[in-house]
Amino acid sequence: MTENEAERIRLEEEINECQLCELGKTRKKAVVGAGSLSAKIMLIGEAPGYYEDLNGKPFVGKAGKILDELLESLGRKRAEVYITNILKCRPPGNRNPSAAEIKACTPFLDAQMSIIDPEVIATLGNFSLTYIFAKFGLTPDKIGKIHGKVFTVGTIAGIKKVVPLYHPAVATYNPGMKETLKDDFKVLADCF
Ligand code: URA
Repeated sequence: MTENEAERIRLEEEINECQLCELGKTRKKAVVGAGSLSAKIMLIGEAPGYYEDLNGKPFVGKAGKILDELLESLGRKRAEVYITNILKCRPPGNRNPSAAEIKACTPFLDAQMSIIDPEVIATLGNFSLTYIFAKFGLTPDKIGKIHGKVFTVGTIAGIKKVVPLYHPAVATYNPGMKETLKDDFKVLADCF
């Protein structure tokens, strides 16, 4: 077993047993993430919803169907990327993540980023946009202005691209947004 694999297994155990915030009491299953551990693209959503909490897998509900469609529009499958969330446990009733929950949980995301070492980090929605932009010292702006743009950052792990995208769930309540999402996803086409 490589050191990276051992670290991944240890991290998964830690997430599955985590009680660092209140969500540890109400979750059914923690959702670590899924996909290729050698993916060049990491997609970061917000938090598990009802079905993700039941299954322990990210994006398995309505928003997940849209995410699959978006990847399919590039001729790609979710197994070719790595998908995770800002929070690993479901906030009751799918409420927004709190600042305290984000603070407690994001060291797990940081560890996942160092294990997977993606070249491209695509944020899905505002919570991951805010966290990733702050982490890499990027100036935040409204998603309406910066969606689908590519930001290049220098990190200790080398140069990375950050791509802010709308959350796929927007297309469930605003179907017209699917075309915008598809258009934005095209910036990922050459990154696999
Ligand atoms: N929405 C998210 O942000 N993440 C999931 O895993 C599912 C829905």
